[in-house]
Amino acid sequence: MAHPHASETQPNGPIPTRPDDLTIGMYVDLNCSWFRHPFASKTFTITSDKELTIIRGLGLDTVLVHPARSDSEGAPQNSHNDGDGRTTAAPTLPDTTGPDTVRCDTPAPPPTIVQYKESLQQANMLYRQTVAESSQALNDIKNGSESGLVAAKQMIHGLTEILVSDNASSAMGSLLGAQELDDLSVLHAMNVAVLSMLVGRQFDLGHEAMHALGTAGFLHDIGEQALPPDLRHRSWASMNTEDQKAFQQHVDFGLNMLAQFPGLPDDVLSIIRNHHERVDGSGYPARIRGDQLSLLSRIHAVVDEYESLVNTPDPLTTMTPTETLSKLYTNAKTKFSEEVVVGLIQTLSVYPPGTVVALTDHSVGLVVSINLHSRMRPLIVLYDPTVNQANPHIADLSKDPTLSIVRSIPRSELSQETSDYLNLTKWTGFFISSSLKTLEEDRAA
Ligand SMILES: [Fe+2]
Ligand SMILES: [Fe+2]
Repeated sequence: MAHPHASETQPNGPIPTRPDDLTIGMYVDLNCSWFRHPFASKTFTITSDKELTIIRGLGLDTVLVHPARSDSEGAPQNSHNDGDGRTTAAPTLPDTTGPDTVRCDTPAPPPTIVQYKESLQQANMLYRQTVAESSQALNDIKNGSESGLVAAKQMIHGLTEILVSDNASSAMGSLLGAQELDDLSVLHAMNVAVLSMLVGRQFDLGHEAMHALGTAGFLHDIGEQALPPDLRHRSWASMNTEDQKAFQQHVDFGLNMLAQFPGLPDDVLSIIRNHHERVDGSGYPARIRGDQLSLLSRIHAVVDEYESLVNTPDPLTTMTPTETLSKLYTNAKTKFSEEVVVGLIQTLSVYPPGTVVALTDHSVGLVVSINLHSRMRPLIVLYDPTVNQANPHIADLSKDPTLSIVRSIPRSELSQETSDYLNLTKWTGFFISSSLKTLEEDRAA
């Protein structure tokens, strides 16, 4: 076992060491960004060959070895010491973290309808799997387990890899039955993580900033887990002053929970600390103003608000995505960063996933994708009562220049039959799928 506090009494300082010279039992400080390595913390005792292999694959010239904290006899397998004496499991990501590189692939042609349907099925399977894993990760983090943080990091890492490649990105509004979700907060966490990274693309953010947005998006409301159940998932307007005060505490509760993970970067913590601040100083808890809010915090705040307004327990009585964007744009003069709201609108287009639209041929349908190559021409599930709802017709506006969207339709204008057919009672989530790229590669092979 390592000696976590030995360095306080011994003079040995850290020694820069080449990764090839590392051995099991050494207490290392990777001395690089949290986002560049797959571990929960950058300081730990090496306990396995797998960890050695991963460290050597990071492309680092040297890491720091702390002799006083290292165990010359080697440390037990499958244990991990984060420097404060706690011993926890040390799960790691697959070895996919290399030097920061951004792929600049050429855009792939849009998928065919058949490919879309296949990829949507794959995406929905992946989405369900990710929801389950995310739920477990949030629960583990709440309980102070590093394995949850590592799992979250893995998910965000995977999403970032997809998002930085123009070729692979295809954001889908993945329709998921509300009854399939144990906890609305998991969907909110995933949606905010994904959508804030999508908006981050508009601002040409680098890898680290994208990672920070995704990680903070996933973790920002974890403090709600410490609130009484009846306070969670309530709209702000439905709370009295006392409830609102109690609810506001979730920001501090979250920061306290995350203090168990000393490796979390300041950028992530800052976004979480400020996620309810508003540019006019009307937010909470510190009522700081726009000029003190980083771009990442301002992006997160807009996306968090959008997601909260669009995905509520009763989608039929809430604003449509289009109405929500328009409300945010109105408020952009005071509460939100206007450039970020514009970035969100550019990301989602004026017809975001979940929007019911009228088309030029008088048909009605539900927008189910973000077409990152041509935002006004998404895929649309068509309402047609003569066609089995389980296998509806899909219009791909990117393929059919004769068909265009005329307008979005408020849900109050829809008949019950149309609402039921289009599954409007289901949640709309954002999911990034690289399966379209895979299909294209398979076809080209
Ligand atoms: Fe919050
Ligand atoms: Fe939130």
